[in-house]
Amino acid sequence: MRLAIIGAKGQLGSELAFQGSRHFDVVPFTHEDVCVEDPRSIKKIAVSKPSVIINTAAFHKVEACEKSPVRAFAVNALGPCHLSSLAREQNSLLVHVSTDFVFSGEQDSWSEEDPPCPINVYGASKAAGEMAVRWICPRHLIIRVACLFGGRGETGDLSFVDLVLNKAQKGEALQVSHERRTSPSYVPHHGKRGLHVARAGRGDPRGNKIFNTPSSNGGDRDPPQEPHPQAQETP
Ligand SMILES: NC(=O)c1ccc[n+]([C@@H]2O[C@H](COP(=O)([O-])OP(=O)(O)OC[C@H]3O[C@@H](n4cnc5c(N)ncnc54)[C@H](OP(=O)(O)O)[C@@H]3O)[C@@H](O)[C@H]2O)c1
Repeated sequence: MRLAIIGAKGQLGSELAFQGSRHFDVVPFTHEDVCVEDPRSIKKIAVSKPSVIINTAAFHKVEACEKSPVRAFAVNALGPCHLSSLAREQNSLLVHVSTDFVFSGEQDSWSEEDPPCPINVYGASKAAGEMAVRWICPRHLIIRVACLFGGRGETGDLSFVDLVLNKAQKGEALQVSHERRTSPSYVPHHGKRGLHVARAGRGDPRGNKIFNTPSSNGGDRDPPQEPHPQAQETP
């Protein structure tokens, strides 16, 4: 099985590439190799003719997404749109990584049947990416994860959990919000789960193609300081 991993230098992407290379023919694509919002660049993936494409590429800094909504939608919605089109053309399975931020965080748990109800640009752009995958690519699976930590990625800032551990090891004080709850997800476990899902190549016995991983189905989150106008218009 040939596996193309998009976002291969990131926290989850590099773990998938590391674990996946033990069992599969892995073709990693970093941001330098492929820009998901650029359809010409996406064609580079087609050359390797992967049977499975796993998309971990994302613009996921919540506050930065509020400031740059066009970039957020380009990477998180248009990117999956192009990848879905490629997967459809090649009859590949597209495993798309999404987030619990497609939900508002107002409930303790969310099921896969719950419709997305994002409250910020990041969540809305990821929900749009999910829709593109669902409507364009017949062979798809969507895995929603939450608060990743413990990855081997070369890019990005320290995750929240890694930041706490880092500060604790140095004996430094740490100020954190006590109003938010989440269930951190250990990246090596998610790498294993993602590969398992990719290998199985199908949804659950009920035909469901979306997986809220155990720690991605709830948690409180703060709405942006100034709710985004689009979020206010959502019925
Ligand atoms: N991190 C979390 O706590 C968390 C929580 C819930 C869901 N998720 C979701 O999980 C997935 C993986 O997250 P992660 O923590 O592994 O992210 P990450 O460490 O930031 O990795 C994402 C990778 O995507 C690349 N990338 C960014 N924009 C791109 C573009 N336009 N085209 C191609 N590649 C691009 C980045 O490269 P550069 O850094 O070089 O730009 C980076 O290597 C994402 O879908 C994210 O939405 C993450």
